[in-house]
Amino acid sequence: MPACAGDDMENNETKKPERKQVLLSGIQPTGVFTLGNYIGAVRNWQKMQDDFDCAYFIADLHSLTVRQEPAELRKHSKEAFALLLACGIDPEKSIVFIQSHVPAHAELGWILSCYTQFGELSRMTQFKDKSQQHPENINAGLFDYPALMAADILLYQPDYVPVGADQKQHLELTRTIVNRFNGLYGDVFRMPEPYIAKEGAKIMSLQDPAKKMSKSDTNTNAFISILDDPAVIRNKFKRAVTDSETEVVFREGKDGINNLMTIYSVVTGRSFDDIEKEFAGRGYGDFKAAVGEAVAEELSGVRTRFNDLMKDNAYLEECYRSGAERAARISQRTLNKVKKKIGLIV
Ligand code: TYM
Repeated sequence: MPACAGDDMENNETKKPERKQVLLSGIQPTGVFTLGNYIGAVRNWQKMQDDFDCAYFIADLHSLTVRQEPAELRKHSKEAFALLLACGIDPEKSIVFIQSHVPAHAELGWILSCYTQFGELSRMTQFKDKSQQHPENINAGLFDYPALMAADILLYQPDYVPVGADQKQHLELTRTIVNRFNGLYGDVFRMPEPYIAKEGAKIMSLQDPAKKMSKSDTNTNAFISILDDPAVIRNKFKRAVTDSETEVVFREGKDGINNLMTIYSVVTGRSFDDIEKEFAGRGYGDFKAAVGEAVAEELSGVRTRFNDLMKDNAYLEECYRSGAERAARISQRTLNKVKKKIGLIV
């Protein structure tokens, strides 16, 4: 295994005259990533590593907003970290860490929650959805979640935050907080831009194409887990809900087929036009089989790398410890600046 060193983001800020653009994103460790997480987020993160200074993290503090079994959370956090590496996030190129290992996130999260309005947080659709899903545990953390997310982002002064479409509203709130804070104290935070891919920003359930693909779906046929074995992947696509027509075309009203075409297009790099031509007159059976095959092929390397990484605990630990040290150095600079500005003794 390669060593996990390299301090690009720090070097760029301190030594090189030209600053490489910075990119940051995070993912919750609430189970194996879905094909939605992969296409909407992680796959893009991997591709952006050469052109940006990147920081990626496992958002374990965010997961606490829903009750977790402690041993499971620990296990899922380590697996999620290994999954990021298995998906091609390279700890030599990017800073990869676990959120709770960098205390500045929780500290700035508290500070920013004092600059976020009750009304703004009440309008967040994720808060409304999760409150409905867990009516027995509508805790203050669930409500305040976007302030912590703003802190995650702003500590690293990123130019871009690559996310799926469901995170757009949180990004907009982060931008509102930047305007408010900078308006009061001067130029403290860089204004982050959401980076939402044109295709694949919202991968839908395979069983109900009106719903987002989600790992918390009770029907396991509704989502592809990126560690599903190839036979399972093919089978889930075979059973994917479509419509009563037969034509493989991207058109309004064909949500199931549109979703499958999007997945196929992202994974193979082919345009919708090309796909329509390839499957003209061939019906849905052939098409679903091709999508299943392409996805199984795309994910086969991920599964192998994940299994290898999970056997090397020492390497994983070395990576997340060194990632946290690098993240702590960068985030502490921003936190100190904020503390001084607002009147805390540093
Ligand atoms: P999370 O863990 O729910 O999802 C991680 C990423 O996957 C994207 N995603 C999808 N994209 C396309 N189709 C889908 N069906 C799909 N499902 C999920 C999400 O948009 C996300 O980009 N709050 C965040 C984690 C977070 C974060 C941050 C992200 C915490 N702090 C700071 C960016 C910056 C979340 O719960 O993502």
